[in-house]
Amino acid sequence: SSNKTTREDKLLKICELLEEHVDYYNWVGFYFKNGDKNELKLGPYVGEPTDHTIIPFGKGICGQVAVSNKNFVVPNVAAQDNYIACSITVKAEIVIPIFKNGENIGQIDIDSNTPDPFTKADEEFLEFVCEKVSTIL
Ligand code: SME
Repeated sequence: SSNKTTREDKLLKICELLEEHVDYYNWVGFYFKNGDKNELKLGPYVGEPTDHTIIPFGKGICGQVAVSNKNFVVPNVAAQDNYIACSITVKAEIVIPIFKNGENIGQIDIDSNTPDPFTKADEEFLEFVCEKVSTIL
């Protein structure tokens, strides 16, 4: 099997583990910068399929993290004007950037059906996950 397949398998496994072990993680996926384009491309994920497989930089929560290089915790998605809805069941979202050699190369995106579920501990845990993910990319 190719390295690409192995990498995708590992990323999918991480999504599965996160979704399975944290009750309020209901959609878990990766977006990565799409080559030289100013857009994100959906990678491995678990949860409802989404139409948003390509997201322009700046658009939605994910697109904003692509340009800010900062964590984005959204306690209430209904209060966001620059937000891309994937499912009407989603109440909250957290996006953590992934850095490789100091460059923002993608992100982990988690949607929750629970209002305001994410704490500083989620941010710190997911930053740790993203650092580990970076080492296999
Ligand atoms: N809600 C995201 C879009 C991706 S879906 O959550 C899978 C956003 O506003 O960027």
